[in-house]
Amino acid sequence: MSENLARQFLIREDVVFLNHGSFGACPRPVFETYQHWQLELERQPVEFLGRALTENMRLPRTALATELGTTPENIVGLTNATTGLNIVAQSLDLKPGDQILTTDHEYSALEKTWAYVCRRTGAEIVVVNIPLPLETEAQFTDAVVAGMTDRTRVLFLSHITSPTALLFPIERAIAEARKRGIWSVIDGAHTPGHIPLQLDALGADFYAGNCHKWMMAPKGSAFLHARPEVQGLLNPLVISHGWTAQSRDAGAKGAFGNSPFIDEIEVQGTRDPAPWLTIPTALDYRRDNDWVSVQAHCQALAQDTARRLGVLTGLEPLSAPQFCAPQMVAMPLPECNTEQLKIDLIERYNIEMPVFKWQDRCIARLSVQGYNGKAQMDLLISALTDLLGLEADLAVRATQAEGAA
Ligand SMILES: Cc1ncc(COP(=O)(O)O)c(C=O)c1O
Repeated sequence: MSENLARQFLIREDVVFLNHGSFGACPRPVFETYQHWQLELERQPVEFLGRALTENMRLPRTALATELGTTPENIVGLTNATTGLNIVAQSLDLKPGDQILTTDHEYSALEKTWAYVCRRTGAEIVVVNIPLPLETEAQFTDAVVAGMTDRTRVLFLSHITSPTALLFPIERAIAEARKRGIWSVIDGAHTPGHIPLQLDALGADFYAGNCHKWMMAPKGSAFLHARPEVQGLLNPLVISHGWTAQSRDAGAKGAFGNSPFIDEIEVQGTRDPAPWLTIPTALDYRRDNDWVSVQAHCQALAQDTARRLGVLTGLEPLSAPQFCAPQMVAMPLPECNTEQLKIDLIERYNIEMPVFKWQDRCIARLSVQGYNGKAQMDLLISALTDLLGLEADLAVRATQAEGAA
């Protein structure tokens, strides 16, 4: 299966690409639609970015809203999830002493965003430790809820975490936040196209996601979802033609005929909307290629590879399987020079995979997408065995086990 699919992607054949998680990768038919839109833009820029844009954006907005269980009016199209989360973080009215509750598994760019907001507002960040291995939902929710105080104004959580590739069970934490009048802000950079996502049912106040990672749309296709009740709290980061001094009351019209929420945030000066216009093709590609089955195959391959490495290293997984992102797994490594290991993997084996230190752990984060296959996993295991001297470790542990018995 994956050999056929591999031919449909543009990833260089000489690279064993095990890092879909960072920037995604686009299948050929999707990329062709993307180029079609770019060409259309170039052929008549005034028509494209002026008269036709509002109408052209309608189809992707509706397709994405349907896919993600919400209505088109609740979604604005952006270049990346970081922008969406910045809009929220920089809009919310925070004062000195207010608390932003978050975890120790968050993405570094967003940690910086909240640090910036705190410096400007006098609010403070409270970081709760999510213990590892994560084995029960209660372990997660109890840790988060224990961090809530009468000063907590914002709960900021990744849905799928970057350094640890965990699928956080965020549902109950969001509900607890709502009960206490705390705004929930969710970083869903890795979830669209990766897990079944129903935004309205999830009930977060603000949710930003990327379509350019696991949905496989072109880079620059992201969104911010906001519940209707909180849309009026948001201000655009860039004030442009979409801004009006009007009220944001229900039923108000924005400068381009959408709601003020959409028009104010989406219109940010001249930009290329082609990635967003390609979203319907990315969704069609997934349906036409039975991506649900492809994903199940990828998940099995990721879990099996992590298990094989675990046998060699003797290290426990970071979570029970249900809290591991389906197509991404953070595999613990023995103490090593992670920077050097990453270089050796690419230079000696052409394996592209993030390897890093996180807290006191060494981690290799494996992504498995439809273009990856079993032979690549075998190569990865043999490269890590070689570079980390794992066979020797295994022999030592076998001897120790014999001694103990
Ligand atoms: C958890 C998380 N949040 C946010 C981002 C940022 O995504 P983007 O650069 O598309 O804004 C990433 C990127 O990998 C991520 O892993």
